[in-house]
Amino acid sequence: CGIVGYIGHREAYPVIIKGLQRLEYRGYDSAGIMLYDNSELKVSKTKGKVSDLEARAQNEITLNGSIGIGHTRWATHGVPNDVNSHPHLSNSGNLCIIHNGIIENYEPLKKELINRGYTFKSDTDTEVLVNLIEEIKKKENIKLGKAVQLALNQVVGAYAIVVFDKEKPDELVAARLGSPLAIGIGDGEFFVGSDATPFIEYTSNAIYLEDEETAVIRLHKPLKIRKIKDDTTVDPYIQELQLNLEQIEKGGYEHFMLKEIYEQPNVIKDTYRGRLLANTGIIQMSGVEDNIEKFTNADRILIVACGTSWHAGLVAEYIIEEFSRIPVEVEYASEFRYRNPIITSKDVVIAISQSGETADTLAAIKLAKEKGAFVFGVCNVVGSSISRETHAGAYTHAGPEIGVASTKAFTTQITVLTMIALRLAKVKGTLSNSDYFRYLQELEIIPEKVLEALNTNDIAKEIAEKFKDSQNCLYLGRGYNFPVALEGALKLKEISYIHAEGYPAAEMKHGPIALIDEKMPVIVIAPKQGHYDKVVSNIQEIKSRSGKIIAVVTKGDTQVKELADYVIEIPETSDALSPLITTIPLQLLSYYIAVLRGCNVDQPRNLAKSVTVE
Ligand code: G6P
Repeated sequence: CGIVGYIGHREAYPVIIKGLQRLEYRGYDSAGIMLYDNSELKVSKTKGKVSDLEARAQNEITLNGSIGIGHTRWATHGVPNDVNSHPHLSNSGNLCIIHNGIIENYEPLKKELINRGYTFKSDTDTEVLVNLIEEIKKKENIKLGKAVQLALNQVVGAYAIVVFDKEKPDELVAARLGSPLAIGIGDGEFFVGSDATPFIEYTSNAIYLEDEETAVIRLHKPLKIRKIKDDTTVDPYIQELQLNLEQIEKGGYEHFMLKEIYEQPNVIKDTYRGRLLANTGIIQMSGVEDNIEKFTNADRILIVACGTSWHAGLVAEYIIEEFSRIPVEVEYASEFRYRNPIITSKDVVIAISQSGETADTLAAIKLAKEKGAFVFGVCNVVGSSISRETHAGAYTHAGPEIGVASTKAFTTQITVLTMIALRLAKVKGTLSNSDYFRYLQELEIIPEKVLEALNTNDIAKEIAEKFKDSQNCLYLGRGYNFPVALEGALKLKEISYIHAEGYPAAEMKHGPIALIDEKMPVIVIAPKQGHYDKVVSNIQEIKSRSGKIIAVVTKGDTQVKELADYVIEIPETSDALSPLITTIPLQLLSYYIAVLRGCNVDQPRNLAKSVTVE
């Protein structure tokens, strides 16, 4: 979900709507807004997108007022409908709340409130929370900030909330546990956001609330931050934001996803800039260097992540084991956290996350820390929860990724992890000097090859035309390109809703081969380096069952060309670095198929960019 709040001298409505649009990638089942003006508290909310909210609000309420809160929702409790949308009001109608997260113990709390005469309009946990705050405020006869604090002490779960009280209309109270919350500090005005994008054009000063902190944001008064548990005050730490507006706008592209695909040559360069000097053989990443012995002495490296980041972890498993000969295991964070995993202080855990906010990954990190492991983060969002929770880390520097389907985050994650593998190889002496230098040089020219791989745009479009109506699709790859096959399939299903599966090419004969017929497109990643001959045999197996073969091959390939229905040519690279290149046409193919099917590419149904609930 996405949260926006404003209090100051501007009209709040446009600030909040624009902010919600920027946050819409976080959830878009429903949206809502509250504005306060002239003793009147006005709420408008609806199932659907921010544009639906705009259409509705114009007819439903007057849009003036210089204080307000807004929300885009990704449903957890209760189906997405008008009633379940945020904001929610308390029974008296005085308190208004927006909430991101889950209140796990809402049922007993709800029962207790019902016993005290409270009624509920929605099925949400959020409505329970706002009434709990109201009950405490009334009963104890205390201010809103204090009541929020006491209520949150009774709550189990995760939240980022903003609460407004009609009886105190110059104030907003915000709090967080597990879900991110940033407060922008302007001149005589404050902004609140799930991240800083809603207020980037108004101020570059922001405070990121820490877990279990609450902030009382009052007009013309200094911001007050307190610890929810023990009521101690915290000095606000104001950060200077590095974001700029251009980075979060589409820049002429039809979709964020396409823009982000095309940004890859530049952001990969940004990722290694200042860290890799191919001529001198230097790889310098302070988070790695400061802890180099932890890495080189590790019994094993355990990678935890979700979604696309998990796929980057799989690529890293192949690369780290090959280059630095340290055993690597890759696990879904959601599985790891609940299975009493065996970890010791001799393990290094690498957590990969674009957003740095994924709830399961965050929980896995906490668990690994408890068990004494050294935890290293590979995140994209600077200052995110995971980047703060880990002992050390390296940012990917991909810039804001807005399209829900991850693209540039994936390739920059692989870039960072490759640099780590190379650095460890250097210290451990597990790569020959010539191989080491060769990989370094190759990594340095990868952006140019990615740029060249973007030339597959037209053929990707052409193939998309042919296969846009498919119901199933199979992606095959071996070795380093097996994870790429998984990622290719994930991209397609995420945005085009075509069922797709990624498989190790040889494993196909143990199951998926049964699905192959003349209607089944099979995308085979078959670059010259790697297990080329083996993949060619797999292609033959598909061909003899009349499957439609789309092959990603190295430029100049002739053998596969004869067998495949379509070939996509990419520049040559070593096997280990090939995922950075082979991924590109697969991203484009998914993109064009989704566009041709009329899907909402940047905001696919049911998905959210940043999953801050487990
Ligand atoms: C969501 C997103 C995916 C992403 C995954 C992990 O499912 O839709 O694109 O790969 O979360 O997110 P993270 O921010 O931890 O990389």
